[in-house]
Amino acid sequence: MQFSTDERFAKQLDAEDPLRGFRDKFHLPLGKDGKPVIYFAGNSLGLMPKPARAVVDEELDNWARLGVDAHHATGTPWYTYHEPLREPTARLVGAKPIEVICMNSLTVNLHLMLATFYRPAKSRFKILMEDPAFPSDTYAIKTQIVHHGLDPKDALMLARPRQGEFTVRNEDIVDLIEKNRDQLAVVMIGAVNFFTGQLHDIEKITTAAQKHGSHRQRPAVTA
Ligand SMILES: Cc1ncc(COP(=O)(O)O)c(C=O)c1O
Repeated sequence: MQFSTDERFAKQLDAEDPLRGFRDKFHLPLGKDGKPVIYFAGNSLGLMPKPARAVVDEELDNWARLGVDAHHATGTPWYTYHEPLREPTARLVGAKPIEVICMNSLTVNLHLMLATFYRPAKSRFKILMEDPAFPSDTYAIKTQIVHHGLDPKDALMLARPRQGEFTVRNEDIVDLIEKNRDQLAVVMIGAVNFFTGQLHDIEKITTAAQKHGSHRQRPAVTA
């Protein structure tokens, strides 16, 4: 296949795309010209799936009918909602069911994870993350650093794209890990960068981070 940037080639790829039918499963906002927009904000609030309204309505009906008993009494009890989601979520992210849980917002979960993983010591206190990272991720990390009485200027290290490049090289992340191996407490890299779509080599980064330090002291890695 000869790649080309012209419209005809884009339309041909669309026509051949085996996933193209999924487009019809979502509501697409209309642009100023009245045509459905091309939607690139999937990392943030994704498009509304067409069945979503009926699913939400069902829970509202349960609430109206049962009040507080809807926590336990319906076909979709709210109290244990995370349990039926565990297996499909594990499949989605390629993890074991015991390793995943659906709960809270992403930022709340980051704080909870860091409450466990970020235990800065006098010598091992740095956090490594990528730049650009989602703004609220950066605020959460800075909040944690300040919470421990440290200064983000000393404790936060950013892996940036090289001059003239748009994505962070995995080897540069590994290099920063190596150079800071005795001071590194946490490595936090989004597996898929929200801005560039870059897929990081999480296995390589995790291996580099976990190579250093004793089991109790080695840097925690979150992706
Ligand atoms: C990479 C990333 N981090 C953090 C957030 C914020 O998530 P929440 O509002 O659930 O805290 C988002 C939301 O789009 C995100 O894409």
